[in-house]
Amino acid sequence: MSIDESVLTETRREFSTLAKGVHLVSHSLGPIPRAARRYAAQFLDEWENDSIGAWHRWLPAVRELGDLIADVIGVDHGTVAVMANVSNVQAAVASCFAFNTSDAAPFRGRTKIVYDALNFSTVHYVWQEQVRRGAELVVVNGKNGVDAPIDELIAAIDEKTLLVPISHVLFRSSAMYDAKRVIDHAHKMGAMVLLDCYQSAGVVPLHLKEWGCDMACGGSVKWACGGPGAAYLYVRPDLLPLLRPMSAGWFSHEEPFAFDMGPMRYADDVWRMIGGTPAIPSIYTARAGWEMVRKLGVEAIRKKSLRQTALLRKLVEERGHRVNTPREDASRGGTVCFDFEGAEKVSQVLSMQNLFHDYRPNCGIRVSPHFFTIDDEISQFVTEVDRATRAA
Ligand SMILES: Cc1ncc(COP(=O)(O)O)c(C=O)c1O
Repeated sequence: MSIDESVLTETRREFSTLAKGVHLVSHSLGPIPRAARRYAAQFLDEWENDSIGAWHRWLPAVRELGDLIADVIGVDHGTVAVMANVSNVQAAVASCFAFNTSDAAPFRGRTKIVYDALNFSTVHYVWQEQVRRGAELVVVNGKNGVDAPIDELIAAIDEKTLLVPISHVLFRSSAMYDAKRVIDHAHKMGAMVLLDCYQSAGVVPLHLKEWGCDMACGGSVKWACGGPGAAYLYVRPDLLPLLRPMSAGWFSHEEPFAFDMGPMRYADDVWRMIGGTPAIPSIYTARAGWEMVRKLGVEAIRKKSLRQTALLRKLVEERGHRVNTPREDASRGGTVCFDFEGAEKVSQVLSMQNLFHDYRPNCGIRVSPHFFTIDDEISQFVTEVDRATRAA
């Protein structure tokens, strides 16, 4: 169902923080919805009033957030685990493999981990360290540091490849992979894809089940307006029984409260990946943003995002700035990155004026309208870039 843009911008009243500045930084930190404070207070009230009985609300809340995220990323309820951050998620996935003959079929003999040099650093750090355990890294370079290097990536995925842990939308340029194409090729080679959707979920419609995605992850901090500590992992249900994480914990066990000291019996659902006690306060604060995204619908958010990012692109191109984000709608996420001589200094001036955005080396100024952004804020931002550039 198509939904008018005004329904999206009416949500501004749900964000008191928007009165404090122009918020164009959801690729890094989404603004706090008022309801997040209410949910945080609910957590504290439950703790105070119900004591140990609070767990009867807290544990279901973990599953409920997983299901809420599942709706946004296009997978079934019960297939998403909530974990602390993407690094933990990647490490838990890595711990499922020994990279030697103790790996069961279909993983045995597959030691290559293939991704691109524009991946988010934290993912690289996790997989790089697996080299000590026998993994072989293949990090492909793109042509220009902007576009997602899909041809190079696909050429590198072969029958020795175990996993392709890539970002769906690249943090540095907001270039977007054709995820279905990568997944289809990986499957042809018998490999799996772990798609990091941190920069796409909430602003780009996702159909991960339909795409046959093996595993996916992301977090709540950015486009989901949910704050830190509530990342997630989706695993394709038929793959799950093959995954036996070494980074286990009692919540990964079939019967956590049996305190069984025998051999590990993994939970038969995605909780086998969770490890220890979930970060309940973060799960409460994350709920409000995800609820808003689900209610508004990512299709509607994307439509507005494409219009506003095209507007922003036009305004900065008119000024002669170099845009480091692909032009085609199908090849880009929700951010426009642009650069010019002195951009870092200008960025610092704008930040002091509460024009929230950021600057990254080899990328430039990153600006992200989101569902609550009005066009006036985009014009104001560009006008202030002009003013700060003239004054520099
Ligand atoms: C694509 C992507 N993955 C992961 C992260 C963060 O990882 P973590 O949750 O481990 O801090 C970010 C940004 O913070 C990101 O942009």
